[in-house]
Amino acid sequence: MILALENVSKNFGGLAALSDISFNVNAGEIVGVIGPNGAGKTTLFNLITGVFSPSSGTIRYRDKAVNGLKPHKITELGVARTFQNIRLFGHISALENVMAGAHCRIKANLWQGLWRTKVERKEERELRQKAKTLLQLVGIADEENTLAASLPYGKQRRLEIARALAAEPEVVLLDEPAAGMNESETEDLHGLIKEIQKLGKAVVLIEHDMNLMMNLCDRLVVLNFGKKISEGTPDVVRENAEVIEAYLGKEEE
Ligand SMILES: Nc1ncnc2c1ncn2[C@@H]1O[C@H](COP(=O)(O)OP(=O)(O)OP(=O)(O)O)[C@@H](O)[C@H]1O
Ligand SMILES: [Mg+2]
Repeated sequence: MILALENVSKNFGGLAALSDISFNVNAGEIVGVIGPNGAGKTTLFNLITGVFSPSSGTIRYRDKAVNGLKPHKITELGVARTFQNIRLFGHISALENVMAGAHCRIKANLWQGLWRTKVERKEERELRQKAKTLLQLVGIADEENTLAASLPYGKQRRLEIARALAAEPEVVLLDEPAAGMNESETEDLHGLIKEIQKLGKAVVLIEHDMNLMMNLCDRLVVLNFGKKISEGTPDVVRENAEVIEAYLGKEEE
């Protein structure tokens, strides 16, 4: 087990955004988090990545409690994410965005602007090469010099994934990576997530596309109104009455 949530709750004022959530993520596994709008999915990612501290409960990464650590510390430990609302640096190139994602892995103080020493220049070259490889992996190598803001939406989502991977995570959290993608783009994304798994990384994936989730995930965690209502293989979850109700309830709205 690489990531563990133990009885994690998060309140925003009087609102219980998450209540008593426990589940594990094993190394190399794809775990899906599903649930209606407002169920607490993104909040879960914000807790795991240190954007918020849990109101109670413990989050462990490789047996080490990480609640309360700053986001950059958690990235350094090996957890990287993408955002539901894309957060790229719009006015720098795709390649530079990926290089920025490797920030936490750089020894030399490169970000002060000058590549002075030989060691620093070597590190910069390696970083650039690594970033190119990641652009290739996510399928946008041809766009390395394009400003992030000029990329079509689907490619921005891929670029976010490349940037997250640049941090060399062992766990990658993807918050609705297929949002705004058409059917064939979503299929490609499925392939990409499988590739990420083949690199030995665990993936925690939030998505509303049930077809994608049922086909792609090893295990699903289902949230509704901040509570975990089901967990298991896609087949088990599909049959769960509470899950069906949560989704039918949503359709009636
Ligand atoms: N920073 C915050 N302050 C106050 N309330 C918040 C905050 N972040 C989230 N919430 C509330 O917590 C609940 C869960 O929100 P969250 O964004 O985690 O849902 P979600 O499952 O990701 O929904 P969606 O599918 O729409 O993205 C919502 O009621 C939301 O309004
Ligand atoms: Mg969300």
